[in-house]
Amino acid sequence: MCGIVGIVGHSPVAPLIVDALKRLEYRGYDSAGVATIERGELSRRRAEGKLVNLERRLRDEPLDGNIGIGHTRWATHGVPNETNAHPHFSNGVAIVHNGIIENFAELRDELQRDGYVFASQTDTEVVAHLVARELAAGRKPVEAAYNALKRLQGAFALAIMFRGDEDLIVGARNGPPLAVGHGDGEMFLGSDAIALAPFTNSITYLEDGDWAVIRRNEILIFDMEGKAVERKRQQSIGTSFLVDKGNYRHFMQKEIHEQPEVIGHTLAHYVDFTKGEAKALELPFDFASLDRIAVSACGTAYLAGLIGKYWFERFARLPVDIDIASEFRYREMPIVKNSAAFFVSQSGETADTLASLRYCRQAGVPIGAIVNVRESTIARESDVVLPTLAGPEIGVASTKAFTCQLSVLASLALRAAAARGTITPEDEKSMVRSLSEVPRIATQVLKLESQIEQVARELSHYKHVLYLGRDTNYPLAMEGALKLKEISYIHAEGYAAGELKHGPIALIDEHMPVIVIAPHDRIFEKTVSNMQEVAARGGKIILITDTKGAASATVNTLETIVLPDVPEFVAPIVYALPIQMLAYWTAVFMGTDVDQPRNLAKSVTVE
Ligand code: G6P
Repeated sequence: MCGIVGIVGHSPVAPLIVDALKRLEYRGYDSAGVATIERGELSRRRAEGKLVNLERRLRDEPLDGNIGIGHTRWATHGVPNETNAHPHFSNGVAIVHNGIIENFAELRDELQRDGYVFASQTDTEVVAHLVARELAAGRKPVEAAYNALKRLQGAFALAIMFRGDEDLIVGARNGPPLAVGHGDGEMFLGSDAIALAPFTNSITYLEDGDWAVIRRNEILIFDMEGKAVERKRQQSIGTSFLVDKGNYRHFMQKEIHEQPEVIGHTLAHYVDFTKGEAKALELPFDFASLDRIAVSACGTAYLAGLIGKYWFERFARLPVDIDIASEFRYREMPIVKNSAAFFVSQSGETADTLASLRYCRQAGVPIGAIVNVRESTIARESDVVLPTLAGPEIGVASTKAFTCQLSVLASLALRAAAARGTITPEDEKSMVRSLSEVPRIATQVLKLESQIEQVARELSHYKHVLYLGRDTNYPLAMEGALKLKEISYIHAEGYAAGELKHGPIALIDEHMPVIVIAPHDRIFEKTVSNMQEVAARGGKIILITDTKGAASATVNTLETIVLPDVPEFVAPIVYALPIQMLAYWTAVFMGTDVDQPRNLAKSVTVE
C-alpha cells in the first residue's frame, strides 16, 4: 500500500517530504526514501525500516533541492531493503509508486532485451525504465510519462520527476488514492489529504485513470485518452486535527481511551436520544421493502459487519449476506433484486472492498459506505456515506473505528427494524436508551485497565490462545484473536463456543488459555457448558462477563474480568474494549511495536 508524496516548492523540500511521510507511515513502514533535484541532478536518500532511519540518514547526508518526491513502503515485490526502497531511478527519471504493476514481468523482459539493467526486485522499477526509454527515443518528459502509463496494467499511484526539469512532477492514479494540493507558487501531491495537511487544505482528488502535470503555478489533469479533464477543487477537512499521542504511550492506547467520546459522537449522528428513535436517513433504498442486504469488508471491519448481520437479522428480520471482500469480489454472487449493499471500511481505500463495491455498482444495487475517511474512494463511489465519527485512527490495529462501525450498524439495524415494523415503538425506545448508555459504561470498562494489564502479563507467557463466544460474541471472539495476533504475534483463534467440540477441543491443555466472552445473556448457560468442557480438560479459562455472569458461572477460572451489566443489544460494543486492552497490554509485555506491527499496514490498497 505504500504512501507517496511530491512537492514542487520554493525552499528545500526534503524536510517537508519527511514530515508528510510521517503522516503516511500508517500505509507502510518497511523502508522509506526521498529524491530531490540538487543542482540539476537527481539525488536520493533511502533507508530500510522506519522513517527514523531515513531521518538519521538525511541528518548525516542532507539533501538540497526545491522539488522532490518521497515514499514510505509496504513491500509487495522484493524484500524490504534499501535497494528495493523507492524512489527508483533510471537515466534521469525518478519514481515513487504505490500499488502493483501486474504486467511487470513481461515489461521487465522487454526492457532487459533493450539493455536496461534492473537494480531492484520491485515491480516499480519497470516504470522508471519505461519512462527513460521514451526519453531516450526523443520524447519530452510529459509525453514520455504518458506513453509509459499507457503500458501499465494493475493498480498504481505514481509520482515521476525528471533530471533537468525543476518545475515538473507527473502524478498518475489507477486504483490507489492520489490527491493534488494547491499552494501559492508551490504544488503538492500525496496519497491523502492528511499527508498534505501542513501545506494546504485546498485539494483535488484524482480519479481512476487520471494523470496530472504539476508545476509551481499550474496543475493540468488528463484522462487516459490524453484529454484534459476538470476535477473539483475542495477544502480538505484533514487539517483540523493534530495527530499526536497525547499522554499515552502508544496511539493504540490513546485510541482505546477515546472510545467513550467517539462512540457518543457517532451514535448522536444516527440516533435521536430525546425522541428515543433512530434518525430517518436519506437512503437510496427503503428498508421496509428490502429483501436482503449484502455486506462486504476486510479484517476488523469485516468482523464489525458480521456482528451487524446478527443485529439486522434478529431485530429487523432482514437477511444479510456477509463476505470477506477478497472472496466476494471473485465469487460472482448473484445480486438479488430489492437488495442493498453496505461496505465497511475505516480507510475507505481497501482495494478488495472497493472492488466489491464496484461489482455491486455494476449490478445496479444501491450502495452505502460505512467509512471513517469521508473523502475516501469508497465514500466517493457510494450512493450514501454513513460516516463513523472516530477521528483519525493511527494505530494499525483498529480499535475505535471498530466500535464506531458497530455503533453505526446497530443504529442502522434499529432504523431498519422500526421501518419494517419488526420492533414496537417501545422496543425502539428501550434500544435507543441502551445505546445512550454505551459511552458511560465504556468509561467504566476502561477503569478495568490495571486488572486487564495483569491478565495480559500472564497471557504473554503463552504461545497459543483460544477465544470463545456465542451469538454476537462469536465475531467478537474472532476480533479478540485477530487483535492479539496482529500486535503480540501470539497465535490465536476465535471460535463459536458451540463449535468447540467439533475440533478445537483437541487442542485444550494447560498450555492453551481460553478466553471466554460471555455476558449473562439468553444463551449464557450454553456457554457455561462449553467452559465446563474446557475446564474438564485442564484448560485455563479467562472469563469476560458481567456481575450476574460472574455470580452464576460455576467454573473455576484463572481470572474473571467483570464488566458492568449491559443491555444485550449493545454488549458487543462494550465487550470490544476489554479484548482490545488485553491485546494491547499483552503486546506491551511482549515488547512488540504496538502501533506499527511487523508486516502489516493500516490501509491495504493492493489485492
Ligand atoms: C488492514 C488493517 C486492519 C483493517 C483492515 C481493513 O488489514 O490492518 O486493521 O481492519 O485492513 O481496513 P479498512 O480500512 O478497510 O477498514
